Amino acid sequence: MPEPRIVRHPLVDVRLTTLRDETTDRASFRAAVRELTAMVVYEAMRHAPTRPVELRTPVTTTTGAELATPTVLVPVLRAGLGMAEAAHAQVPGAIMGFVGMARDEETLQPTTYLASLPASLAGRPVLVLDPMLATGGSMAGTIDLLVEHGADDVTAVCLVAAPEGIARLAQAHPGVGVVAAAVDERLNEHGYIVPGLGDAGDRQFGAM
Ligand code: URA
Repeated sequence: MPEPRIVRHPLVDVRLTTLRDETTDRASFRAAVRELTAMVVYEAMRHAPTRPVELRTPVTTTTGAELATPTVLVPVLRAGLGMAEAAHAQVPGAIMGFVGMARDEETLQPTTYLASLPASLAGRPVLVLDPMLATGGSMAGTIDLLVEHGADDVTAVCLVAAPEGIARLAQAHPGVGVVAAAVDERLNEHGYIVPGLGDAGDRQFGAM
């Protein structure tokens, strides 16, 4: 697996601090998720191929650029839903698929409850959006589904990752890149990232 790409920037640190702070209210938390998502997606698209386009400015003709291949964005429900709009704003021409993964809190194993994906993902860059790469189970399970749909160019886009999740993903899907705003210390005995930010789904949408 390529080395995880960690986005290092003071504005990333400030948004992460907002997310980590347990006193941050839900609206501010969602806003920080959106802002941080724009930054990590920007980094995830760094090497996206472009092709030249000819255009006229008000002054002359010139050559611009457009993305060569339509990107596919796949938020992993529930927590990844909060990243979807900001990611789409960065890549307005992207197609959006959806995967629903629930984690069994006893076994920590993921189960799929929704898969709404384009028929073929072959040859398309796919960005999987999930704020927390914890055990890596949901991400690996989602990428299994994407590979079944032909995906061959997948990047996991996260806000906070745990070393355990990165290692599991590297083992399950060695060709998949990871872009994150932070790699934290470890998982605790409940599968939460430490220091982390708690349950990203609950903090955005409320505890179920
Ligand atoms: N999912 C979360 O929302 N938070 C964690 O710390 C781990 C998994």
